[in-house]
Amino acid sequence: MVQLNNTNKSISRPFTITSILLLIVGMLFGIMGSLQYIIPGLLKEQLSFEKIRPMHVSSIIFWIIIGSVGSVFNYLQLHTQKKLYSRMLAKATFFIFSISIIVILFSYCFGIFGGREYWEFNPIIALPIFIGWILFMINFIKSIGSFRNQPVYVWMWLTGIFFFLFTFLESYLWLFPYFRNNIVNDMTIQWKSYGSMVGSWNMLLYGSSIFLMEKISDEKKYSSSPIAFALYFIGLFNLMFNWGHHIYTLPTYPFIKNISYLVSMTELLILGRIIFLWKSTLTKNLKHLNSITYRFILAADVWIFSTLLLAIAMSIPAINIYTHGTHITVAHTMGATIGINSFLLLAISFDILATHHNNDIGNKKYVNLGFWMTNISLFIFWISLIIAGIIKSKWQMTLNKEPFSTMMLQLKPFFIVFCISGMALFTGFILVISSLIKYHIFYKRK
Ligand code: HEM
Repeated sequence: MVQLNNTNKSISRPFTITSILLLIVGMLFGIMGSLQYIIPGLLKEQLSFEKIRPMHVSSIIFWIIIGSVGSVFNYLQLHTQKKLYSRMLAKATFFIFSISIIVILFSYCFGIFGGREYWEFNPIIALPIFIGWILFMINFIKSIGSFRNQPVYVWMWLTGIFFFLFTFLESYLWLFPYFRNNIVNDMTIQWKSYGSMVGSWNMLLYGSSIFLMEKISDEKKYSSSPIAFALYFIGLFNLMFNWGHHIYTLPTYPFIKNISYLVSMTELLILGRIIFLWKSTLTKNLKHLNSITYRFILAADVWIFSTLLLAIAMSIPAINIYTHGTHITVAHTMGATIGINSFLLLAISFDILATHHNNDIGNKKYVNLGFWMTNISLFIFWISLIIAGIIKSKWQMTLNKEPFSTMMLQLKPFFIVFCISGMALFTGFILVISSLIKYHIFYKRK
């Protein structure tokens, strides 16, 4: 068996570093968007909200996707204790994704769109992303070799890779008139594909998180246990059927929406349970040893439950009518992508770029400050969006409405809090990331 060395590991590093760059750039676009909330018309000619929003959302989505791909490449090699099937294919995947992302961001900048919400770029750019993903899939399957007796995270990775490809293609069915010409079918397919796509990248990320938790606790039993597989199948069921809440406002059968949304709730419970059990297996000493990685996983655990609370409230049809189309939905999406996805990815990034034995990093003044700033400001950020959403939803449902501009004036203080806490969130992330980069350079030299 070929032992893993630094050169083999290095293939995942460009993915991780690029994903972190996308996080930083994406947050800057987000701050610009929030400034446009409070100063309407800011940079209207150069970078209007119609451009800034997709620039922010695409950078952030690619932070999660590229980071997850890097984490799979890293842990795949640690799992098999072998080199990847092909470093060339991995490099090709990296270059195809990187060039596509640069083209996407520049096209937004020049006002070239043509896609749908979340994938607003010209559909032609979907082609290289599709090819890059196929290369990733081939490399993964060939590197694993046999799927017999594999732990749960390997199945999670495989499922995530396969379903991402499937849902990505599905999200482009609107290109065919057959699907596009029936508005209800078109929107149902569109939102179904987005719902399942989130489930797909969660499979990649949660699989890597399970690997990391086992690596830290030195406990390999969980990932091959029957309970892990039972939970995985619930997750898979989830990925396939959890999209109902996206089509609440479409005229389809209500029972489909209610059942599928209840199904979707179980996904977060699954990860919460895994982390909770993992925590109890850690000794005090190990907890200390892995402090910053451990802390981000712990913070993700807290956000899983907060997101779950909001999601359960939003799943009640009488409440959903109010929350639809308000900032409560944005709070839910951002709470999940920051508090769960981004925190888990940061924990993984520390493991890839430095090492998970990073107690000395966690206790450092700046990283500690960054950790707390990130969490506290995220909480304020989240609450301000929820309050803005409640005010807007009350306005939406009132018969004798006051003018839109009066309602927007009421929202302004909450948008100011949203903007300032967003800047604090960015600063917190930067403090953590700069320590990570510093330690990466330090460990590379060692
Ligand atoms: C890790 C960091 C972040 C992640 C993962 C993230 C994620 C997202 C996502 C997924 C959306 C789309 C929401 C939806 O359509 O429901 C969004 C929208 C947005 N985000 Fe962020 N975000 C981050 C940081 C920030 C920061 C620091 C700000 C600055 C205050 C910000 C401001 C915005 C704004 C203004 C929107 C547009 C909301 C709208 O459509 O009205 N984001 N973000």
